[in-house]
Amino acid sequence: MASAVLAVDQGTSGTKALVICPDRGVIGTGTAPVKPRYGAGGTVEVDPGELLSSVVDAGRRALADAGEPVAAVGLANQGETVLAWDPDSGAPLTDAIVWQDRRAAPLCSELSPYGDELAHLTGLPLDPYFAAPKMAWIRRERTREGVVTTSDSWLIHRLTGAFVTDAATAGRTQLLDLDTVAWSPRALGVFGLDGERLPEVVDAAGAVGTTTAFGAPIPLTGLLVDQQAALLAQSVTEPGVAKCTYGTGAFLLAQTGRTPRRTDSGLVSCVAWRLGGQTSYCLDGQVYTVASAVRWLTDLGVISGAADLDPVGSAVPDSGGVTFVPALAGLAAPWWRGDVRGSLTGLGLDTGPGQLVRALCEGIAAQVAELTRAVAADLGRPLSSLRVDGGLTRSALLMQTQADLLQIPVEVSALPDVTALGVGAVARLGVDPALTTEEAIPDWRPSAVYEPRIGPDEAAARLAGFRSRVDALLDGLPGDQ
Ligand code: G3P
Repeated sequence: MASAVLAVDQGTSGTKALVICPDRGVIGTGTAPVKPRYGAGGTVEVDPGELLSSVVDAGRRALADAGEPVAAVGLANQGETVLAWDPDSGAPLTDAIVWQDRRAAPLCSELSPYGDELAHLTGLPLDPYFAAPKMAWIRRERTREGVVTTSDSWLIHRLTGAFVTDAATAGRTQLLDLDTVAWSPRALGVFGLDGERLPEVVDAAGAVGTTTAFGAPIPLTGLLVDQQAALLAQSVTEPGVAKCTYGTGAFLLAQTGRTPRRTDSGLVSCVAWRLGGQTSYCLDGQVYTVASAVRWLTDLGVISGAADLDPVGSAVPDSGGVTFVPALAGLAAPWWRGDVRGSLTGLGLDTGPGQLVRALCEGIAAQVAELTRAVAADLGRPLSSLRVDGGLTRSALLMQTQADLLQIPVEVSALPDVTALGVGAVARLGVDPALTTEEAIPDWRPSAVYEPRIGPDEAAARLAGFRSRVDALLDGLPGDQ
């Protein structure tokens, strides 16, 4: 029997698929782009057909590259992206509204009297980032027809006919009871979503159905939301260690064990995964625009792409007094102010691309440092290191800035594509129940470790400077969003 698995990571700007063999590692890769449309007022949409064809194309390419059959397939998804669709035909009824989309902000303001109750019930603050506000917006503004779900459920339905979502993706909706890991009638009622037909909440590993989308029939046995898949593959099981993925946004997660740890620090408390009926939990914080901010600087013509960050930024000694709060789609944890916009201050006639690049790296790293501080406060202990992955970890400038501001080592995963590796691991667990989680996940080792090169006083001063810029932005805004 084939023992390799096909692991598909359906992300915001593309789908990546790997064929992973337990003995030989990655033996096939395939990618396919996805092009979200960024509109006025913070809207971000994508054609659902593009999501599905990217999954199929990337999967087929990876299989062709590997040239051998697989025993199972796993699917990671982008989390809080939603659409309405017809459960009989599988046809989409709306475009997919992407997790970065801010259109549900007014709806969140309207529901703000329920914010504390929802935060306790679901572990999530009321914010348009999560799925439920966008689902409610679709019901109010677009259609009452069909079902409205996160994009994973639609993709899985199109691939296998099943109507399911994994517990961790369900936990990104703000409709899941954090303690019982079941849909919450109360949360559904608050969002006006009572009576909705919702997908069955299933474990990350297990038989979901069979797909012929990639050629020969393959059982789908692994499902996990992308950041949690990366957490699993980064082997972040020890307390005091967290992972951060630097992708479209940056996502910092730390495992907290078998009971939910509700946050006192403005983070998200959510399901890490449910395996064998047992739920693990994590704390989570996010920076909405990271690669998106690099793309923005690129679109302005300041740099020609992410590969320019190091040569351009390293050509100058520092940011020359420029501070960049790269909140181009608002601020997430621990502030939760989607109405904040990015700011560039301290510009002078001598400001050039190098200073802007350094200020961007510092702005990203400072936000991740705020999240790390919040995680440490919730865990009641400082973090000993941060494990990192994602495309922007190739920037030594960003990673060194991160280590400097955090004052702990930043360890870059030697394995790229950890999200796909994580969902590949759960697909293996789903097809081989005799395996333990530890046996299924890849051995973790760093390809580079960045140690802090500045002292704690300088780090504290730089963070304080960034924080005072954020405070000034917050002070300039009217009340709650
Ligand atoms: O919460 C959204 C996040 O999981 C999306 O990740 O990799 O698609 O940018 P990515």
